Amino acid sequence: MHGNPTIVARDPLLKVENLVVEYPIGARTVHAVSDVSLEIARGETLGLVGESGCGKSTLGRAVLQLRRAKSGRVLFDGADLTALQGDALRKMRHRVQLIFQDPIASLNPRRRIGDIIAEPLVIAGVKDAKKRRELVCETLSAVGLDPALVVGRLPHEFSGGQCQRICIARALVLNPEFIICDEPVSALDVSIRAQILNLLEEMKQRFALTLLFIAHDLAVVKAVSDRVAVMYLGRLCEVGPSAQLFDKPAHPYTALLIEAIPVPDPDVRPAESVAVGEPPSPMAPPSGCRFRTRCPRADAKCAAEVPELRPVASGQYVACHHPLI
Ligand SMILES: Nc1ncnc2c1ncn2[C@@H]1O[C@H](COP(=O)(O)OP(=O)(O)OP(=O)(O)O)[C@@H](O)[C@H]1O
Ligand code: SF4
Ligand SMILES: [Mg+2]
Repeated sequence: MHGNPTIVARDPLLKVENLVVEYPIGARTVHAVSDVSLEIARGETLGLVGESGCGKSTLGRAVLQLRRAKSGRVLFDGADLTALQGDALRKMRHRVQLIFQDPIASLNPRRRIGDIIAEPLVIAGVKDAKKRRELVCETLSAVGLDPALVVGRLPHEFSGGQCQRICIARALVLNPEFIICDEPVSALDVSIRAQILNLLEEMKQRFALTLLFIAHDLAVVKAVSDRVAVMYLGRLCEVGPSAQLFDKPAHPYTALLIEAIPVPDPDVRPAESVAVGEPPSPMAPPSGCRFRTRCPRADAKCAAEVPELRPVASGQYVACHHPLI
C-alpha cells in the first residue's frame, strides 16, 4: 500500500485514508475499493463519479461503517470511525446520513410517513412525542411538503419525486452535518431531477451541510459539485475542482467520461470513445494501472507500476503515468 496523497481540502470534515474494502466470494475476492484516500472540506460538495460497479456505493457505505473496511481509516471531524463500536459509533452516525438511489424501495411500505421520518429521532433517544412531531413537521415543510397532507399517508400514495423529498426529510431530521447522496436522482423521471437537485442545494445552504454526491452521470455531478473525484475499478483516477477538471481533464478515463456526455444538439455526434471494451472484473483487476486494458496510452510502465495520485495543476491530482496535461 502506498502513502496518503496530499488531496488537501481546507478544514476537512471527512478524511478517508488508504481505504480498502473487499467482498470475499467463495475462494475469490472482489476488490471493490483499493487504497482510496480523499478529503472533503466543511461545506463542500464532492462529486464521486465512475461507471457501474467501480465501487462508489461501497466507498459510501464504508464511510458510514455499514461495511467495515479491510484496512484504512475514516476520520470524521477528527474521530476515527473505523475504530468506533456500539454507542460511540451510533452517536457519530447521527451526524452522517445517507440518501439512496431508489426512494420508493428505501421507504417501508407499511409505515406512515410521519413514523418513517420520526424513526431516526426515536433511535436517537428523543423521548418527547410532541417534540418529535414538531421536528417531523418542520422538516417536511423544509423539503416542500405540507405536513398536514403527508404524515398520515403511506409511501405508495406518493410519486418518486415526492418519495425522494420524504427520504431527504428523513435524512435531515437529526440535523446532520454530512450527507452521502448515493445516486439520488438516477431513479427519477428526468423532468423532476432538477427539482430534487435544487432542493438538495437549498438544504445544503440552509443547514450548512457537507455532501458526498455519488453519480455515474458526469453531467449531474458537474452541476452540483465543487470538486469531483473520478473512480475506476476501485481506485481514484483523478480529483480536482469541478470546472477545471471538465475544462482540462488529466486522466484518459476522465476525458472518456467527458466525451461520453450526450450533446444536446442532434447534429453534433459524440466524439469517438477513446476506450474499448468492458471494464475488467474487480475479482482480477489488471496489474499496474487498472485502466490500462482500455487506455490508448498504455505502455509497459502502466502494466508494471500502480500510478499514484500526484498533483498536475492547482488542486488537481491524477493517478496516471502519462497524463493529458
Ligand atoms: N455485498 C456484496 N457482495 C459481493 N460483491 C459486492 C457486494 N456489493 C458490491 N459488490 C461488488 O463490488 C463492486 C463495487 O460495487 P458498488 O456497488 O460499490 O459499485 P457502484 O460504483 O456503486 O456501482 P453502481 O453504479 O452500479 O451503483 C462490484 O463489482 C459489485 O458487484
Ligand atoms: S497510467 Fe497508463 S494505462 Fe493508466 S491511464 Fe495513464 S496512460 Fe493510461
Ligand atoms: Mg452504487
